[in-house]
Order: sequence, then C-alpha cells, then structure tokens
Amino acid sequence: MAKLSVNDLNVAQRRVFVRVDYNVPMEERGGEMVITDATRIKETLQTLRLLIEKQAKIILAAHLGRPKGKREPTMSLRPVAGKLSEMLGRPVAFVDDCIGEKVDKAAAALKPGEILLLENVRYYNEEEANDAAFAQKLASIAEVYVNDAFGAAHRAHASTEGVPRGVASRAGQCAAGLLMERELKYLGHELDNPARPFVVILGGAKVSDKIKVIDRLLEKAGVILIGGAMAYTFQLALGQKVGKSLVEPDKTGLALSALEKAKARGAQFLLPVDNIIADAVNTGKLNKKGKPILEFRNPRVNAQPNIPDEAEGLDIGPATSARYAEIIHQAKTILWNGPMGVFEDPRFAAGTLAVARAVVHATEKNGAKSIIGGGDSVTALNQAGLGEKVTFMSTGGGASLEFLEGKVLPGVAALTEQSP
Ligand code: 3PG
Ligand code: MG
Repeated sequence: MAKLSVNDLNVAQRRVFVRVDYNVPMEERGGEMVITDATRIKETLQTLRLLIEKQAKIILAAHLGRPKGKREPTMSLRPVAGKLSEMLGRPVAFVDDCIGEKVDKAAAALKPGEILLLENVRYYNEEEANDAAFAQKLASIAEVYVNDAFGAAHRAHASTEGVPRGVASRAGQCAAGLLMERELKYLGHELDNPARPFVVILGGAKVSDKIKVIDRLLEKAGVILIGGAMAYTFQLALGQKVGKSLVEPDKTGLALSALEKAKARGAQFLLPVDNIIADAVNTGKLNKKGKPILEFRNPRVNAQPNIPDEAEGLDIGPATSARYAEIIHQAKTILWNGPMGVFEDPRFAAGTLAVARAVVHATEKNGAKSIIGGGDSVTALNQAGLGEKVTFMSTGGGASLEFLEGKVLPGVAALTEQSP
C-alpha cells in the first residue's frame, strides 16, 4: 500500500516534525567542522520549500555520526543549520538539544514558514534504543510527522519509528517527504517492472554485503556484471588463484550458489576477464586503526585467470571494462551499486570510470533509466563530474541495500497508509 505523501497534508499553522538524514561528511578545518558534501541537505530542499509554501512550522530532526549517547562536539548539527540556511536563502534557527524546555520554547515560538533544527538526536542513547519515553518527548512538540530521511529508514530508532507511532497514536498524520518518495519510486517501483534489457552492476568489497541483493535481482535482471573485490571471492570459488586480493574465503559457497541460480534463470552473470594488479608492499607503518599501511607498486594488467601470489587485484582490467561498457550501452534499465576497484587511487580508478561513462552514455543515447544505489558509486560518479547525468542517485547507503534486498524499512512502515 502507498504511504501518505507530504503533498496530501494540510499543515498550515501546524508544527511538523520532519526527520531528515543530515548525516553528511565533515572535516575539521582550523578548529571548525566543515561540510564536505551537502548532497543530503540539498535533496531535502524540495520538501522544505513545499512545507514553507504550505505555511507549516517546521521542526527538523537528524543524527550525525555515531556519538553513542555523548555530546561529542565534532558531531554537532550546528554547522548544518548554517549550510541549510545558506542553501534555502532564509534563516534556520538551531537549538542545542533535541528534547526539554529549551526545545519546547523554541518550537512554541515558531511562526508559519519558519524552520528550527534540533541538535543531534544520537546525543541520547535513547534514540538508537527507540526508548518510548524519549520518543514521546520528541513527539510532544509536533502535530504532524514527515519522514524525508530515506538514508536512516532502515533504523528502528526513536526519531524514525517511535515518533511516528506516537504521533499516529493521537491520530496525527505521518507522511513520506518528497525525497523519500523519489527513493521508494526509483529503488522500488521502477525496478519491479524494468524496461529491458535490465543490467545490474555490482561492485564493492564483499560478496556478503551484496548476496541478498543478487538473489533478489536475479529474478528480474537479464545481466549481472560483477566488479570490485567481491569478484575475487567468485574467482576463488571457481578454483582460480587470487594472490593477496581481498577475499571472503568462507563465502565461496554463497558465490557458487549465486552462479548456479543465474544459470538456472538464464541470466548472464559476468565476472572480470582481466584485472589491474599490483604488488602489495608493507610499509611498516600503521594507520589510525592500527592496521599496517600497504603500498601498491608496479600496477599492471593481468590478463590470465590466476593472480600471482605476491600481487593483489585492485581494479577490473581494460578488456573487462570494454566488455561491460558494450553491454551497458544496450541497457534500458541500469542499477549500479559499488565501485569496480579502489577508485580513490587514480591508478585503480579506470574500471569504475569506464562503467560510469557507459552508464551515462546509455542514459543519454539509449534512453536508459539509470539508478545508482548510493554509497561509493555515488561518490565515484560525483568525482567524475557525472552525477547530474544519471536518472537517479540514492542518498542511502545501508538503507538502499536493505530496500533492494526487499526488506521492509521500519521508517517507512511507521508512516500512515494512503486512504484508498
Ligand atoms: C548513513 O549514513 O548510512 C545513515 O545516515 C545511517 O547512519 P548509521 O549507519 O550510523 O545508522
Ligand atoms: Mg551507515
């Protein structure tokens, strides 16, 4: 059943609690926290402008990082209030708490069309515990609830699950925001009945992260293209040598069953035919997490099935890139999640870039719908300046994967059903 939309709400003069995902990357510069990518803020502007136009009193709630119940100053949402104000071209008030007297006062003082951002809800452990009393306090300032935080909708936390339950229990409406609706449309309905050929491109480090998505998409996709380190687990499963490549040796069974399922369904399941490899040399230094820092020397194409013992696979090779690009060019629907290699290092970015260009080409020249499933593939596309050239980029990481797996997201489930 479809959920109530922010479009359907009558919110004039009413206090609306809007959960947003402002968990944006930040960096410390000269003692200040600076937002390095404001995409998640930008993507909520449409919902906020609609609520302003409808003369709602807007209360924004969000989390930042994982402060684990402490007031961690580097995880304050204060810089987000400044950024949002700049992007909206109007004031955004900020209160340095999310419950209590200060918040009640600030909420009561709101005039129609005004916006208040609350401090990080994860400064309280009760947020992640979905504590009923805490949710009740958060909900007490709101008459209506809107969830535009797709990226956090897989969490059954107070601000995503407890608050809408509380608002609904006193017959208040709980609706999806416009970003939430776009996410559910592209990652949901659009993929339920995709125009064919439907090509799925999966990369990233781990088979275990993607196996359920593979399982579900095998029902629909004609072609699945595999890249990233997860490809090496498949190669290991097929009895090839993978050298020092990142693998999950205990997941080869899963990999084999995915290959068998693809065969049984008549879906093409393609693995790289060549790789970019390099010698992994221990520098003797440790990173922040205490792990040895490796240096990759002598990057080269490896065009045979086995990777030499001393080497590590770090990207798909040129023959694979060309083969994948050719298939992507024919697609009418594309879902891409996960980079093809270690694209942060320019020596191992060619495969991811080739896929990114092919996806854009199919979108522009073949009328394909291209849907990018969030996380690193979005970063890679933006880095290549191609982010505007695909049909849709998800703002979710974990949430988009869980949704693609077919799971019910608690933040969505808690919203009011549309009346038939
Ligand atoms: C994200 O960045 O993936 C979301 O904001 C959820 O954050 P979390 O993984 O810390 O719950
Ligand atoms: Mg996450």
